[in-house]
Amino acid sequence: MLARQIVVSNPDGLVRDQDPLVLADIMQEPVRVALWDRPSPVGPEVVALACRQRLAIRSWLNADALAPALQELLPDPAYGPLREDLALLADMTTCLFGVEGVGVRVTALTKPMCPRFHVDRIPVRLLCTYGGPGSEWLPAPSVPEGLLVPGSCQEGRVEAAAIQRLEPGQVAFFKGENWDDQPGKGVVHRSPPVASGGERLLVTLDV
Ligand SMILES: [Fe+2]
Repeated sequence: MLARQIVVSNPDGLVRDQDPLVLADIMQEPVRVALWDRPSPVGPEVVALACRQRLAIRSWLNADALAPALQELLPDPAYGPLREDLALLADMTTCLFGVEGVGVRVTALTKPMCPRFHVDRIPVRLLCTYGGPGSEWLPAPSVPEGLLVPGSCQEGRVEAAAIQRLEPGQVAFFKGENWDDQPGKGVVHRSPPVASGGERLLVTLDV
């Protein structure tokens, strides 16, 4: 089998493609963000329902029982497309990393947040926002020194043009601080500001 040709947008560490195989590139050393560019498979009516119901799920999915677990977590028939996509993403993630399961969070948000740039102290996380603005992240060269110091003011310290934002439906792996024991290499990111009344449905999978 031919190896995929990796084209890393250095120094961002970003790989991006409409082919889902791009997600496997997160295993490569220069890559810090692997992004599968696709339209959202979950419609706005599902996002609206999740927001009305204030959906907030935090659970564990076993690779060998994804469908029944998701049926139990999201029994409403209207969540069919969400269940199907979660099963796909969880299957891809567990296969890629050779793990027995993943931690899942499904969160509906309708209120403005107070976003602060940070890194996650985990090896890697999959993110997908089905509706509303997606997660925002910074290429390493655009992270001002001291930005992540606890309690420091981040306001006005980051150039707006440097902020990358995931679009609805896009799937991304973000490397965290615990990937390969290389502190300081985690992707700096934040939740996007959500306008009052705006609707956002976020899914994360943790390996
Ligand atoms: Fe985070």
